[in-house]
Amino acid sequence: MVCLQEIIKLKINFGGGMAPISERMVDALNKQINAEIYSAYLYLSMAAFFESKNLKGFANWMKVQWQEELGHAMKIFEFVNERSGRVKLYSIKEPQSEWSSPLEVFKNVYNHEVEVTRRIHELVELAMAEKDYATLNFLQWFIKEQVEEEAAALEILEKLKIIAEDKAALILLDGELSKRKFS
Ligand code: FEO
Repeated sequence: MVCLQEIIKLKINFGGGMAPISERMVDALNKQINAEIYSAYLYLSMAAFFESKNLKGFANWMKVQWQEELGHAMKIFEFVNERSGRVKLYSIKEPQSEWSSPLEVFKNVYNHEVEVTRRIHELVELAMAEKDYATLNFLQWFIKEQVEEEAAALEILEKLKIIAEDKAALILLDGELSKRKFS
């Protein structure tokens, strides 16, 4: 039996000339909201690690990243609502809190972003399979963003490899990372 809420939802969706978003797509997007909030949490944990090492510039970079990831989560949150889907929030797993060096942190950042990219590509594949052109179009922004996220993490990772045990160079990089601002 179709309930009143479903009839209204169908009327709204068809009234706009757009096919309703599938439950499967909504669920996949809800899981991505969770992954983005987990990313934010992981970067905040890295910020706390750098604060404890008195590397304030690195900590600043991570705090900006935390804000960016929350922004990603909210973008998906708003999109699901716009498509008359139901946002569901899942629990956030505890992030790692200790690393052996700044180099290890950025290896973690880079690998994490590669994994996020893989997840975004899976969402794209699902949207394509479902011929959900609105979601496909929405995801284009994330494809571009992931290219930037991976490149930014890799750049710092490569610098840290060059720096190795040179403490003075590490302090210089810390100064550079202190300039990053949330935009
Ligand atoms: Fe939202 Fe860093 O990916």
